[in-house]
Amino acid sequence: MKTLIYAHRGASKRAPENTFPAFEIAYQMGADGIETDVQLTKDGVPVLIHDENVRRTTNGTGFVQDYTYEEIQKLDAGTWFSEKFEGAHIPSLAHFLNWVKDKSLKLNIELKNNIMEYKNLESIVYDMLVAHNVLDRTVLSSFNPESIQRMKKIDKAIPTAFLTSNKTRDMVSFVKELGATSVHIKYRLLTQKLVNQCQQNNLAIRVYTVNREAQLARCFKLQTDGIITDVPNLALKQRKLY
Ligand code: G3P
Ligand code: CA
Repeated sequence: MKTLIYAHRGASKRAPENTFPAFEIAYQMGADGIETDVQLTKDGVPVLIHDENVRRTTNGTGFVQDYTYEEIQKLDAGTWFSEKFEGAHIPSLAHFLNWVKDKSLKLNIELKNNIMEYKNLESIVYDMLVAHNVLDRTVLSSFNPESIQRMKKIDKAIPTAFLTSNKTRDMVSFVKELGATSVHIKYRLLTQKLVNQCQQNNLAIRVYTVNREAQLARCFKLQTDGIITDVPNLALKQRKLY
C-alpha cells in the first residue's frame, strides 16, 4: 500500500504556510495532497490560517474572528517568511477549492475549532466542499471530538479524522465510538501495534508532522495510510525506496 504524502500547510519549508505559493510548490513537487487549516472571519468566511491570531504569519495583530474577510485580505501573509513572498494573502477556502478543482490533489482540511468556537464551521465547510465537487477526495480533521460528531450528523459518510497528540490506551476504541474514519497522530505516538489495531478496525492512520528522513522511512515501512509533512520533496524521494 502506498503511503500518501500530504503537504502540511502546503510546502511550508519553502514558502509561507497556508498561502498559494506554498500550495503551488507542493503541487509542483508532486505531493499527493495538501493539508490546510480553516478558521472563520467575523463575517463568516472560511479562510486558511493556522493560528487563531494573525500575528505570527502576517503583518497584522489580533484574532482572525475579529477581522472581516475584506480586512483580513489586506494583510501581508508572505513577508514574515521572506521578502520574496511579499504580497501573499490569507486565502479563502473558496479560492483554494477553485484552484484545487482541476488538479489531482487530495485534501486534508483541518477545522481549527479546538480553541475557538466557530458557529456552523462544519456545515459552512461541508457545503463548500460539495459545491466544488471535492468531497470524495477530502478528509475533514479536527482535534475537537465534538466537531467530529457534528460532521457525522451533517453527513455520516464523510471521511473524518480525529487528531491527537496524546497517548491513550484506548485510542482506537475512542475514535471508533466517535464515528471518525481515521486517526491523525503525532509522530511520537506511532507504533507497529497501533498501525495493526487501526488496520484491524478499518481505520486509516496518518501521521504528522514527519520531516526527518528516518521518521519518513519508518512511516513508509509501517505502511501508514498517509503522512503530513513540511517537506513533500524529501518525502517523495524517500518513498521511492519502499
Ligand atoms: O493535520 C496535522 C497537523 O496539522 C495538526 O497540527 O498544529 O500543525 O495544525 P497543527
Ligand atoms: Ca493543521
